[in-house]
Amino acid sequence: MNALTRDLIKLTKLAEGAKASAPFRQSFHLMPPVGWLNDPNGLCWFKGVYHAFFQYSPFDPEGGVKLWGHYTSNDMIGWEYQGVAFYPDQPFDCHGVYSGCAFIEDGEMYIYYTGNVKLEDREDYDYINTGREANTVLVTSKDGMQFGRKKELMRNTDYPSDLSRHVRDPKVWKQGDTYYMIQGARTKADVGQAIIFESKDMLNWTFKSRVESGEPFGYMWECPDYFEIGGVKVLSASVQGLEGGVWEHRNVYQSGYFTVEGDILEKYALSEYHLWDYGFDYYAPQSFETGDGRRILIAWMGMPDCEEYTNLTIEDGWQHCFTFPREVYVKDGKVRQRPVKELEKRERKLQDVQDLQDAEDFEIEGCRTCDLTVAGIKDNAFRAVLGGELILEYREGRFEMRFIDQNKTSASAGRGLRYAEMERIEDVRLLVDVSSVEVFVNGGEYVFTTRYYPKSAHIRVEAPGAQAEVSEII
Ligand code: FRU
Repeated sequence: MNALTRDLIKLTKLAEGAKASAPFRQSFHLMPPVGWLNDPNGLCWFKGVYHAFFQYSPFDPEGGVKLWGHYTSNDMIGWEYQGVAFYPDQPFDCHGVYSGCAFIEDGEMYIYYTGNVKLEDREDYDYINTGREANTVLVTSKDGMQFGRKKELMRNTDYPSDLSRHVRDPKVWKQGDTYYMIQGARTKADVGQAIIFESKDMLNWTFKSRVESGEPFGYMWECPDYFEIGGVKVLSASVQGLEGGVWEHRNVYQSGYFTVEGDILEKYALSEYHLWDYGFDYYAPQSFETGDGRRILIAWMGMPDCEEYTNLTIEDGWQHCFTFPREVYVKDGKVRQRPVKELEKRERKLQDVQDLQDAEDFEIEGCRTCDLTVAGIKDNAFRAVLGGELILEYREGRFEMRFIDQNKTSASAGRGLRYAEMERIEDVRLLVDVSSVEVFVNGGEYVFTTRYYPKSAHIRVEAPGAQAEVSEII
């Protein structure tokens, strides 16, 4: 251990001793013990245990240099904090242990991540094409708790020469006897794309090919991921730099997926881009496969570079959480998401089941954590008001999530409206935790996620002719 690691360990313990304070701490979502969280990293199921690492800045709830925090779980709901797995303590990762993945092979965990280096301030550095390094690093573990030495595998000179210095977020999979690694990239001409490397031994990687959209699509793709589910090939990417048209009404950056026709390694065509989530707080999702073959997607329930927006937890010493783990599945040819089935086993108290009649509201009082389903929706008639502050409503061909008060100190923390256009809605499922709401529409064909800070735990649903059921999650 070098002197920097030793002191970072001490400082982290000090910061974590301060404990984040309570009013908006979540009940069944993964949060940082203190400080700041962003992307999920190294998600995996390893030797019967779920592991989730996260981009972590324990020293400041508004962010800072990134470490990897580490949680484990038996059911993806209750998470036990295991401390910091990786500190930015080497010359090749000294400005952040950036995002990456875990790949499991022969009882060993292979962690690949990006070592971020920002060179000292100089006027001629633009920090896009000059002034920074993105190094691909490997660490292995036999038990998922003790990690070996960091090995630097690739630097910018190993990446194609037409790329800028923005290359990051490796995700690895295996096909036949070859390993593939996809990374996000920005070209020198400001075009976002993903690049693929191949390897026979997981150590020596060579550039293989690129994944590009027909027309330029944003200037940077972050956190790419590739998997197949129900016969559909899915390329996920968090895209920066989409502007104009429909993007003006959406988040500053987007997280979505293309479906892939053909072979992503050779000749392929990408579909149009579908958003994973239409809400305010969703970025940098990563997937992994469970022991029983389910594809799980977890994202950062937050959004980068939104200076105008403030999470009201900052004054309590922490900020951000993960989305609830979602199973990705395909039904009627459509990629959908639903909360993992482990939630059904979590202790819950059935609050109410009702057939909703005309002009009758369904009212739920005093439930800060709940799972609410409204099924059999008639004539698109659906409106819900949460905490008297957040409205979910179908009107004029679209499903909307909007805050009544857009004041920075209100539940909205300064946000307005998000929507998705759809012809009809059949069912809506709300997963409400203390300070977040995840809304699954039409069996999760559309999902909307947001943080919110309600003053009351009151929910009202208007959906004449539908059936509603609500349980409190304990
Ligand atoms: C996405 C991202 C990644 C990067 C990490 C740094 O939110 O910008 O591209 O590796 O966060 O925290």
